Amino acid sequence: MTNADTLPFSWYTDEEQLRRERARIFAHAWQYAGRAEEVAQPGSFLAIDTAGIPVLVTRDDAGTLRAFLNVCRHRGAVLTEGCGAKSAIQCHYHAWTYGLDGALRAAPRAEREPGFDKSDWSLLPASVDTWGPFLFVNPDADARPLAEQLSELPAILGRDIEVDGLVFHSRFAFGANANWKVVAENFLECYLLEPHPTFGAQFCKGKLTGEHGQFHLLYPSTGINVFPGPPNLSIGPIVPNGPGRTERYLDYFFAADVDEQWRREFFALDDQVGLEDRALVESVQRGVSSGLLDHGRRLLNAEPLLAAFQRWVFDQLG
Ligand code: FES
Repeated sequence: MTNADTLPFSWYTDEEQLRRERARIFAHAWQYAGRAEEVAQPGSFLAIDTAGIPVLVTRDDAGTLRAFLNVCRHRGAVLTEGCGAKSAIQCHYHAWTYGLDGALRAAPRAEREPGFDKSDWSLLPASVDTWGPFLFVNPDADARPLAEQLSELPAILGRDIEVDGLVFHSRFAFGANANWKVVAENFLECYLLEPHPTFGAQFCKGKLTGEHGQFHLLYPSTGINVFPGPPNLSIGPIVPNGPGRTERYLDYFFAADVDEQWRREFFALDDQVGLEDRALVESVQRGVSSGLLDHGRRLLNAEPLLAAFQRWVFDQLG
């Protein structure tokens, strides 16, 4: 592979490649997981899926924010779904029951088991942190701090928008029949480009208003969009669901006083761009799946963010 070659096209279609990416990238990656306010109260929980790895976030009774693999230590059932408030997490299969601190409290019939020690079977910890109104998880309990991954991103966003002043509006879920990297790369297409070690940054100026927009890919797969205009931000993960399928959602936030007419026009434009993007990435997926081309040609001057992202993926996989 030369510096100008794209990643091999087989990396966009191969089940074994996705398995490697799950193990090497997603099992150790900070990813957007929802709103911090969903787990603000003691006793609250939020179950999410990060690229096929189920994670449970809890706020325990003492107010500590925690995360665990959402997998029962008995025989591996996913423990719980959705979000809400509970005093304990009980597995729906054989009723093993865990505290919100992850400790195994009850395991029916285990008392007949010689040598069974509940303290050996706590939920496995993961990492969790917040940035303003945003919640992030990392399946790796020994992950480096979120702040390290975000690095300069909060300061860059802070030039145009105050994240702490944003109010959640709605979540929009969508997907595409394309590999997650095709979707991520389509995000790195235009504007004024600025590669950073842990994210790709893009900037634009509104044609009429001169206001700034920012579009970022926090590696590996969290997209953040700020469009020119009144304060707005959308954020969400790009989640592989098989080598040829990607699921996404975006959480939309606005300043409290954003004009409703402007917001309607904003969503209409966003829908239009979303449809065009889906057609493009699905077309790329059909092309790379033909199996007759090994790779493409990167434009190193015009596509620095694409090159930086592909190099990052390549490096993660060793
Ligand atoms: S798998 Fe959870 S209690 Fe059996």
